[in-house]
Amino acid sequence: VPLACTASAELQLTALLGPVELARAERFSTPDERRRHVVSHAVLQLILSAFTGCDPRFLHIATTVRGKPYLVDRGPHFSLSHDGDVALIAVTRCGNVGVDVERVRPDLRLDEFAGPLVPVADVTRIEALPLEARTHAWFQAWTRLEAVAKASGDGIQESRADFGGSARFRTWNLDVDEARVGAVAAVPSVTRVMYEALPGASAALARFAFA
Ligand SMILES: CC(C)(COP(=O)(O)OP(=O)(O)OC[C@H]1O[C@@H](n2cnc3c(N)ncnc32)[C@H](O)[C@@H]1OP(=O)(O)O)[C@@H](O)C(=O)NCCC(=O)NCCS
Repeated sequence: VPLACTASAELQLTALLGPVELARAERFSTPDERRRHVVSHAVLQLILSAFTGCDPRFLHIATTVRGKPYLVDRGPHFSLSHDGDVALIAVTRCGNVGVDVERVRPDLRLDEFAGPLVPVADVTRIEALPLEARTHAWFQAWTRLEAVAKASGDGIQESRADFGGSARFRTWNLDVDEARVGAVAAVPSVTRVMYEALPGASAALARFAFA
C-alpha cells in the first residue's frame, strides 16, 4: 500500500479511524508520520471490512499484551508492517500471519546484527553468494525472521525456535519495490500467497468502500 495521498483522501481515511488509532496518529510529531499512520491503519480497516462485511469504522481491533493486533470478533488474521511511504498488509482466514517490509540498506551490517539469529543453513547459503548479492539476501532473511516473530506475536528472541524451519510457520519473501524487500510468515495450512500492489491509497477507498 503506497502511503502517499492527497489531503482530501487523508481526510476521508482519517474518518475511518476509531479513537485509539486517532489518538496514536495525533502523537506523531510530523504531518508525514501522522499521514502514514492514518493511511496504513485506515486501509487495513478497509481490507478487513471487505473480508468481514463489517463497517470499517466499527471493527473491534485489540492487541495482545505483547502488542500483536487482532480482530476481537473472530475475523480473519492479519499483520501490518510499514517502511517510509509503503505499508505491507497480510490477511488470511487460516491462522496466525506476520509480515515485514524493510528498505535494503547496504550500510546496515545485518550479517553481524542478525547473523546469530538466522538458521545456519541460511547463513551458509548467503555467504556462498557473490558479494553484491549478499545484502539483499541478508534483508530477505531478516524480514523472514521479523515476519515469523510477528506471526507468533512473541518477539524475536522468543521466536528463535521457529526460525530454523519449525513446523509452526512457512515463510515467503516478496520484492515489494526496487528499494524494499518483504516477507510473509503464515501457518502451514497456507500454501500460497497472493500479492497485490495497490496503485494508491485512494484506490483502496474506491476498491474497498463499505457499501
Ligand atoms: C514490534 C516489532 C515486531 C515491530 O516491527 P518494526 O519492524 O519496528 O515495525 P513494522 O512496521 O514492521 O511493524 C509495526 C506493526 O507491527 C504490529 N505489531 C506490533 N507489535 C506486534 C507484535 N507483538 N506481534 C505482531 N505484530 C505486532 C503493529 O501492527 C505495528 O503497527 P502500528 O505500530 O502502526 O500499530 C519490532 O519492533 C520488533 O520485532 N522488535 C523486536 C523486539 C521484539 O521482539 N518485540 C516483541 C514484538 S514481536
